[in-house]
Amino acid sequence: MSNDSESLIVTDNGNPRHIAIIMDGNGRWAKKRFMPRIIGHKAGVKTVKNLIDFCTAEKIEVLSLFAFSSENWRRPPEEVSLLMKLFITTLSSEIKKLNRKNVKLVCIGERSAFSNELQREIINGEKLTQNNDGLILVIAANYGGHWDIAQAANQVSTKIRTGILPNTLITEDLISQHISTASLPDPDLFIRTGGEERISNFLLWQLAYTEFYFTPILWPDFNSTALRQAIDSFKGRQRRFGRTGDQVIAKTNLL
Ligand code: IPE
Ligand code: IPE
Ligand code: MG
Repeated sequence: MSNDSESLIVTDNGNPRHIAIIMDGNGRWAKKRFMPRIIGHKAGVKTVKNLIDFCTAEKIEVLSLFAFSSENWRRPPEEVSLLMKLFITTLSSEIKKLNRKNVKLVCIGERSAFSNELQREIINGEKLTQNNDGLILVIAANYGGHWDIAQAANQVSTKIRTGILPNTLITEDLISQHISTASLPDPDLFIRTGGEERISNFLLWQLAYTEFYFTPILWPDFNSTALRQAIDSFKGRQRRFGRTGDQVIAKTNLL
């Protein structure tokens, strides 16, 4: 994050510009109902649809959702396979609606591990919505924060080796410019549902100065009222970015 972007961290109504969410608790939601885990994942998709509408109405600029981590391949093969099918069916059934809602889809993560069919759906979805200027919906799939930093470093090193960039020190700015969300503001608000209080290798680089919010609510039960509560908690915080509280107040009074 550059110093310039600090003054732009909230929208006019005080909402965060970028909300990043670890959607956790689908499996436990299903287990509580004596149902298979995939039913929880399907219920989780409904939550996603509702929150996209809420974020659009609230003029949130970016909503980033952790859909599948680089570690989730360790799950039982049946669950992984059902999740992949759910991604394909959800993308193909929802993308036209998202387009009508002026949503721009951006997928981040190592997509070469996905089936050709899923890669095609992702490319088509991104292409169809690329010129939309409403909510930017970032789906992190086969994503890991470590992978993201490594891929940024690799891009920079390739550019230096091939003479596109001068052979100088690798700076923080250079990594930021090559991280998978380079064109977007860093998340202002990070939410994790499901009760765990960890990052699980989500946007490690980008979350450096993000406000964290944890809730025990399981993802399928996380509705717009719950998101509103998280946003209200965010609005009540003072973001200091290393400064003192008095400096922040003085700076706010100048605006
Ligand atoms: C999050 O819910 C969804 C994915 C990781 C795909 P979980 O499946 O992790 O649900 P719990 O944590 O087991 O309840
Ligand atoms: C994080 O949830 C990944 C997603 C929500 C996609 P997990 O349920 O996989 O995280 P851990 O393993 O409990 O940390
Ligand atoms: Mg989980």
